[in-house]
Amino acid sequence: MSSFPAVRGRRLRATPALRRLVAETRLHPADLVLPVFVREGISDEAPIASMPGVSHHSLESLKPALARAAEAGIGGVMLFGVPLDEKKDGAGTSATDPEGILNAATRAAVAEVGDALVVQTDLCLDEFTDHGHCGVLGAGGEVDNDATLERYRDMAVVQAEAGSQLIAPSGMMDGQVAAIRDALDSHGFADRAILAYAAKYASAFYGPFREAVQSSLSGDRRTYQMDNGNRREGLREVGLDLEEGADIVMVKPAMSYLDVLADVAATSDVPVWAYQISGEYSMMQAAAANGWIDLDAASYESVLGIKRAGADAILTYWAVDLAERLTGRSAPERSIR
Ligand code: PBG
Repeated sequence: MSSFPAVRGRRLRATPALRRLVAETRLHPADLVLPVFVREGISDEAPIASMPGVSHHSLESLKPALARAAEAGIGGVMLFGVPLDEKKDGAGTSATDPEGILNAATRAAVAEVGDALVVQTDLCLDEFTDHGHCGVLGAGGEVDNDATLERYRDMAVVQAEAGSQLIAPSGMMDGQVAAIRDALDSHGFADRAILAYAAKYASAFYGPFREAVQSSLSGDRRTYQMDNGNRREGLREVGLDLEEGADIVMVKPAMSYLDVLADVAATSDVPVWAYQISGEYSMMQAAAANGWIDLDAASYESVLGIKRAGADAILTYWAVDLAERLTGRSAPERSIR
């Protein structure tokens, strides 16, 4: 006589060893990329209030932070520069100054950990403009797409000269990948890869980042970043970036856009990454600080979920913490199986 129920899914969940053996998705330190903020004019590491556990780094404090990241075995770092306020202007000039903070940080990072980590640079003007937009403005105050592409071309070349190993345009200007590819190729940097922030949505979850980069933005980015409800358009944006020569495509934010991520992962023939952004990080940090969730478990679950949805690699502010737990370097009672 057959028993009831005939199908028992619980059999494979009975022990930690069984669960580990049948796990469909695993995180590896090399899947993780740490975003890093380097700020001009500070001499020491300075905590970012809106992102508990994340700091601004000086060119000096950057070095031990990168050494720790390399030791943890993560895949790479994504550098952001925060210039002095008085260096911001309409064109974002310090973005293309070889001595500008992002380019100086890139040289320092490549010298420190360039063999162990992939040193990546955000290519966007918002940290460098006094109006806080990702591009330059036209006469009517609108973000001028094609004038911005000229700035992006220069920025790509300066970043490549500084040693950036993976250049990541995040401004959502039309044609930005093609423009950057052309600029890199015509300056002898055909070897440098482009990570396209391909489907980037206008998100409320960027809030803590805007504080982190001391953004001067008033208003929003909705004329260039995508509308929150658009799934099909995410695939379209990715398709365009692939045609323009993107080597890797990214969906951003991650957690509210897992359907877009899954769509892209199902169709892309290049690596697909996702960016778990500042608000996604800070809201969990805040809930954990209130004792409402277990941070180690929740951070792991959230990043694993992004990988399960289709991300080959994930940018996350927990990259080093997760990697250290994955390799048993810290908090053994919480170590990830
Ligand atoms: C643009 C850029 C942003 C982020 C990464 N690159 C901000 C924006 O589009 O407003 C957000 C990252 C985060 O929120 O963690 N340079």
